[in-house]
Amino acid sequence: MILVTGASGKLGRAILSTLSQRDVVATGTSRAARGDLRTLDFDDPESISLRGVDTLVLVSAGEAEDDVVVARHDAVITAAERDGVAHVVYTSLTSAGDHLGFALAHRWTERRLQQSTLSWTILRNGLYADLFGSLLGWSGNRLTSAFGDGALAAVSREDLAEAAAVVAEAPHRHEGRTYDLVGTPVTAADVAEHLGVPLVDVSLDHRRQELDRAGLKPFQPAMLMSIHTNVRHGFLGSPGPDLGHLLGREPGDTLADVAAATGAPRASTPSDATAR
Ligand SMILES: NC(=O)c1ccc[n+]([C@@H]2O[C@H](COP(=O)([O-])OP(=O)(O)OC[C@H]3O[C@@H](n4cnc5c(N)ncnc54)[C@H](OP(=O)(O)O)[C@@H]3O)[C@@H](O)[C@H]2O)c1
Repeated sequence: MILVTGASGKLGRAILSTLSQRDVVATGTSRAARGDLRTLDFDDPESISLRGVDTLVLVSAGEAEDDVVVARHDAVITAAERDGVAHVVYTSLTSAGDHLGFALAHRWTERRLQQSTLSWTILRNGLYADLFGSLLGWSGNRLTSAFGDGALAAVSREDLAEAAAVVAEAPHRHEGRTYDLVGTPVTAADVAEHLGVPLVDVSLDHRRQELDRAGLKPFQPAMLMSIHTNVRHGFLGSPGPDLGHLLGREPGDTLADVAAATGAPRASTPSDATAR
């Protein structure tokens, strides 16, 4: 049996949905009791049971400080070792993302898996297309960006889910492999052109001040700023072959997804957005 964690979330749900169209037995988990999903809370190690699971698709639960995320992932991998899970597929972070503020917990989890008694496959997922779009802003009808000329090799969750399903249904073929799953490079200028709106480049300082005013969780501004500076300075824009190899086709074009995630232009608002 295949068990997909985080199946109430967007990626886990898409993985489970893809697996449901294949000739395998798969179910998912959530912390809350929801429909057919099994209840599983990484923050409650004593309660974790993975008995009967052959392949665990461990979708990262990363929305927290590193010590919390590391403890979560350690708890579930420890349970997988104890309960006789044969293979773990872990959704990690693209190789180019080593400088991102949330890379450490992913790399720690990869190392924990590699040193475990388990058979494993690591899926180093690129950044989601809609995340990129959501980090662009609006000043009236002008799109604002702190990404400069930098590109993101943005990827859709649908493609990542299909790749995870391909691995999970035949894990022995992917044992001990690490795949770097990135999509097609997209820039803020591509998005502005797609939407037919002007683009204003803002500084990192400008974007940081906006994030500081946005009422985010304490760890979030630093994480999001790390995405801005990595893209701006050219660290996350390179495509790669692994996603296409797993899918057996070219990854989908993500420009429309990025554009949709920017939201509709807000009614004209004053902005101190300035060119670099
Ligand atoms: N590559 C990227 O661009 C990117 C961007 C953002 C996040 N991520 C990472 O990718 C993961 C999946 O993305 P997504 O879009 O599907 O996120 P999502 O929609 O927010 O879903 C997150 C899932 O994590 C589960 N979860 C959270 N805390 C948990 C815990 N303590 N124990 C067990 N499950 C827990 C949630 O389950 P319940 O709430 O139902 O318990 C939910 O199903 C995220 O969790 C994050 O680690 C990647």
